[in-house]
Amino acid sequence: MVILCFTTILIFINLILKSEASIYKDKYLLNQPKSKDFEIIDIYFRPYSCFTQGLLFDQSRRQLTESCGWQGDSKALFTKFDEQTSQVLLDTQVNMEKNHFGEGITILNQDKYLAMTWKDRVFYMMDRQTLKILSTEAIPNEIKEGWGATSNGTYVFITDGSEFIHFVDPSSLQVLKSLKVVSQKGTPIRNLNELEYFKDKTNGKDFIWTNIFLQDSIAKIDLETGMIIKRVNLKVLSDVQEAYIKETNPRLVGYDKFNSVLNGIAYDEIEDVFYITGKRWSFIFKVKLF
Ligand SMILES: *[C@@H]1O[C@H](CO)[C@@H](O)[C@H](O)[C@H]1NC(C)=O
Repeated sequence: MVILCFTTILIFINLILKSEASIYKDKYLLNQPKSKDFEIIDIYFRPYSCFTQGLLFDQSRRQLTESCGWQGDSKALFTKFDEQTSQVLLDTQVNMEKNHFGEGITILNQDKYLAMTWKDRVFYMMDRQTLKILSTEAIPNEIKEGWGATSNGTYVFITDGSEFIHFVDPSSLQVLKSLKVVSQKGTPIRNLNELEYFKDKTNGKDFIWTNIFLQDSIAKIDLETGMIIKRVNLKVLSDVQEAYIKETNPRLVGYDKFNSVLNGIAYDEIEDVFYITGKRWSFIFKVKLF
């Protein structure tokens, strides 16, 4: 009887989540405003909580991975998509030490992920096969704090809240150079946060997409010059999140504004789509950028 009850409750919860996810999916997907810069092509409900500080799509595992911050709750979450219920579900959870604050995560090399901490001065190395933590390594002094990370095999690119992207050698973990990021007028752009490396296949040029702390837009940086060549306003995404909170938990509207901002860009090369989310958002968006 107890088991039967429990199963019924589980089915019920599943139904709620399913309908909730698909209601929002239909509502927001179909009614999105037309943009010349992007299109939301799917929306996944995120039933777990993550203070997203890093987002990564690993081609070889075909898996979306989140790095979540907050002292006592820092972890890497390896996920799977459930297309049936339009949810992104937890597959494997790897906890950081209780006193560490997790930040960006990226592929270090064939065998390892590198996950950062904010002010704790250590990188975590994780095994790409077993997902186990292998070691921690010192963050070099040039990097003031751990913010965002991405990589392309040659370098790990790291931000620290300043206007610089640090180019880190994946073997020695030393900073080889630091690129100053500027607007088209030459103004340094600070608070560069979560990063995503992007190679334009039509001309072989290297770019990094970044989100800038507390902004709803993402920016495309030319890796040769450090210049921001494009900005895409994604306020529509945070509007969806806000509308959802308004409907489901109105007491929380406007609560903790600085901590619920857009953060997290991951690129799936095969499908040519970006996954974008925000800190503790209820959704992960699948987006085409034009
Ligand atoms: C990675 O990006 C850097 C900077 O643009 C470039 O020099 C290097 O050739 C790239 N590596 C690969 C494997 O594309």
